[in-house]
Amino acid sequence: MNPPWWQTAVFYQIYPRSFADSNGDGIGDLDGITAHLDYLNDGTDRSLGIDAIWLSPINPSPLKDWGYDVSDYCGIHPELGDLPSFDRMLAEAHRRKIRIILDLVPNHTSDQHPWFVESRSSRRNPKRDWYIWVAGEPDRPPNNWLSSFGGPAWEYDPATASWYMHSFLKEQPDLNYRNPEVVEAMHAAIAFWLDRGVDGFRVDVISYLMKDAALRDNPPLTDSNIFTRRDPQGLQLHLYDQELPEAHDVIRGFRRVLDRYRDRMMVGEVWVREQKALAAFLRPDQIQLAFNFRFFMCPWEAAAFRNVIEETEDILPLKSGAWPTYTLSNHDFSRHISRYQSGDETEARARAAIVMLLTVRGTPFLYYGEEIGMRDGNVPFFAARDKVGRDHCRTPMQWSAGKNGGFSVSDHPWLPVGDCATINVERQRDDDRSMLGFYRRLIRLRKKTPALLEGSYRAIPAPGDCLVFCRERPDEKGIQSVMVAINFSGAERRFDSPKGTILLSTIEGREGESIGGSLRLAANEAVIVESSR
Ligand code: GLC
Ligand code: CA
Repeated sequence: MNPPWWQTAVFYQIYPRSFADSNGDGIGDLDGITAHLDYLNDGTDRSLGIDAIWLSPINPSPLKDWGYDVSDYCGIHPELGDLPSFDRMLAEAHRRKIRIILDLVPNHTSDQHPWFVESRSSRRNPKRDWYIWVAGEPDRPPNNWLSSFGGPAWEYDPATASWYMHSFLKEQPDLNYRNPEVVEAMHAAIAFWLDRGVDGFRVDVISYLMKDAALRDNPPLTDSNIFTRRDPQGLQLHLYDQELPEAHDVIRGFRRVLDRYRDRMMVGEVWVREQKALAAFLRPDQIQLAFNFRFFMCPWEAAAFRNVIEETEDILPLKSGAWPTYTLSNHDFSRHISRYQSGDETEARARAAIVMLLTVRGTPFLYYGEEIGMRDGNVPFFAARDKVGRDHCRTPMQWSAGKNGGFSVSDHPWLPVGDCATINVERQRDDDRSMLGFYRRLIRLRKKTPALLEGSYRAIPAPGDCLVFCRERPDEKGIQSVMVAINFSGAERRFDSPKGTILLSTIEGREGESIGGSLRLAANEAVIVESSR
C-alpha cells in the first residue's frame, strides 16, 4: 500500500506577503505566488521539485499579528487578492501536482472579528460566551495566566467591567471551545475551504485550544529541564491554559470534517511540555502530522540532533500510522542558515543541515528562501513591522539582483529586502553547484529513493560529532539500504562504514565514488551512500 501523500511530500512554506508582488504595491500576493509556481515545480528537473505549499494566513485581518489575527475565516485579505485569484492559484498549483494547505488559526480571532465585536458589546449578547470572559475589577486579573507574547493573558474591558483572555496579543482574544456554537462555526470555516479544494491545513497553536473550566492558576515551573517555548515573564507550568486533554476532542471534531473529503490532512503546530505528548495528537482520529520543534533548539552538534531524532523515533507509534515531521526554519524563528552561521563554514553547514532534514525519517517542511541560502534580513528599527520582533525571518524573497530583489517594483516594499546582490534565484538557477542546485538535486534524489521516503531508521555508530544513520526498505532485489553521514565538526572525520557508492555529497566531485569499508568526511560534509548488495 502506498503511504499517504503527506508522508512522502516535501512541503514548502510561503509567507504570502513576502514571496512575490504582482501589482507593485510592495506587498506579496496570491497572483505573485501563481506566477512563480513553475519555479517551485514545473514537472522538470529544472524546478525545485516541492510537492506541497503551506501558505501562512491569507484571511482578512487587521494585521496586528500579520494575519494570525483573523477577522473573517472565509475571505481573502484584499492586499493579497480575492476568491477568484485564490481559485486560480489553487487550480494552477493542482495542474502542476502541487498541493496547497492553508493556515487555520482556530484558537483566537482578531478583536475586530464580528464575533468578538458582538461578544464584547454586552454581557447578555448571544455571542458573549464565544470568548472567555470573567466579570471583575480592574487591576485584578482572574488568574495568573500569561500571554505567550508577554504580560498577563487577560485584558480588562471597562465597557462591561470584565476581563477577556488572550494567549497572544490583546487584539487576539481566545475563542471558547466549550461552547458548541464556536465548534460549529469553525467546522463551517474548515468545510468552506475544503469545498474550494484545499488539501488541508496547518493548524495554529493546536495545543492551546482548551482552557481550564475553573480557570485555576498555573503552578510555577520547577523542573528547568522541561521545554517551554516563550515565557518572557518567568516560568510557569502551563497546566491549565495549554495541553488540556479536552483539546483532543476539538481536534477530533476538526478531523471528522476533513474525513468527509478525500485525502485531506492537517499538520499541527503543537507545543508540548514533553515530547511524548506529541503521540496523543497523532492518533488516527486526530492530526496526521505534528511539527517537532526541537530542531529549532539544537545547537550545531550531532548529539543534539541525534537525541531529537531518536526520541521521536521512540515516542511516535509509527505502526499505527503516526509519522514524524521536521523543520529547521519558519516565520517565527531566525533562519537556520543564520542560526548556524560560522564564518566561511556557513554554507557548508546549511547544506549538511538540509541533507539531514530531507533524509531523516519523516516529512520535511522547507521555508521560502532557504533553498537559495537566504539569511535573516537586517530590519532597522524604523522599518520594523512585527510587535514581537520576527521581521528578520520574513523579508522578501530574493528573485534577482534587481530592484527589491525582483520581489516588487514598488519604492516601498513592506519589509526591506536582504542581501539580494549576492543571494538570489537568478544567479543560482542555472548552476547545479549553487545552493538552489543542491536543493534541487537532493529533493530529486529523495523522490526517487524509496528507502529515503519510507524506509526504517537505524542509527550507525560513528564519531561523536557525526550523525550517521541508515534508511532501509525491502524491494524486489532484497533490501535497499541508504546510509546518511553528516559531519558536524569543522575537521575531517573518518570511520568504518558499510561498502557502497556515494549518491550525493555536499562536496563537489564525490558522486559515484565507491566506499570500501572506511568513509572519510570533510569538515561539515554530508553524504548519502547506497550500500552495495
Ligand atoms: C503561532 C504562529 C505565530 C503567531 C501565533 C499566534 O505560533 O506561528 O506566528 O504569532 O501562533 O497566532
Ligand atoms: Ca501586491
